[in-house]
Amino acid sequence: MTMADNSAQTSDSGENNEEENISRSKFLKGAVCLFATAWGTMTLCPIYQYLKDSGQETEGSHVTSVEIGDKSTVPPGTGKLFKFGSIPGIITCTKDGEYHAFSAICTHLGCTVQFRDDKQEIWCACHGGCYDAASGKNIAGPPPKPLKPLKVDVLDGKIVVSKV
Ligand code: FES
Repeated sequence: MTMADNSAQTSDSGENNEEENISRSKFLKGAVCLFATAWGTMTLCPIYQYLKDSGQETEGSHVTSVEIGDKSTVPPGTGKLFKFGSIPGIITCTKDGEYHAFSAICTHLGCTVQFRDDKQEIWCACHGGCYDAASGKNIAGPPPKPLKPLKVDVLDGKIVVSKV
């Protein structure tokens, strides 16, 4: 092998290393971009959803009142979801027979809440937020404020829920 051959081999090896470095660099840049995009999407989507839904707690509905049904449809110690126009509502009946109704949109990130018979609370399955079933007050978990209240009347044995 001559010196010229050695020089040519070293040069080839150097080019290969440079190509490897460039492709490694491209891969890392792509991975960082992909990670940043995924992180941004996971972070910004819930914030966007929260901002979008925060004004919809009841204002998103043009409906001003709905009839839920007979008193027997919500017996004492239970709760029930219903549609208040385009938004979900929740009505609860305490063990004493008092009715309370709220927007069923969680004040954390907008999931639909539900009534938990075992705890006699309103609960959000998304992140474990809890609300008092009589006042709608946020009592545990991440929700930052109470559920938006609705008004309940019983007219001729029928439950009617209206905007406050
Ligand atoms: S959306 Fe209800 S606790 Fe997070």
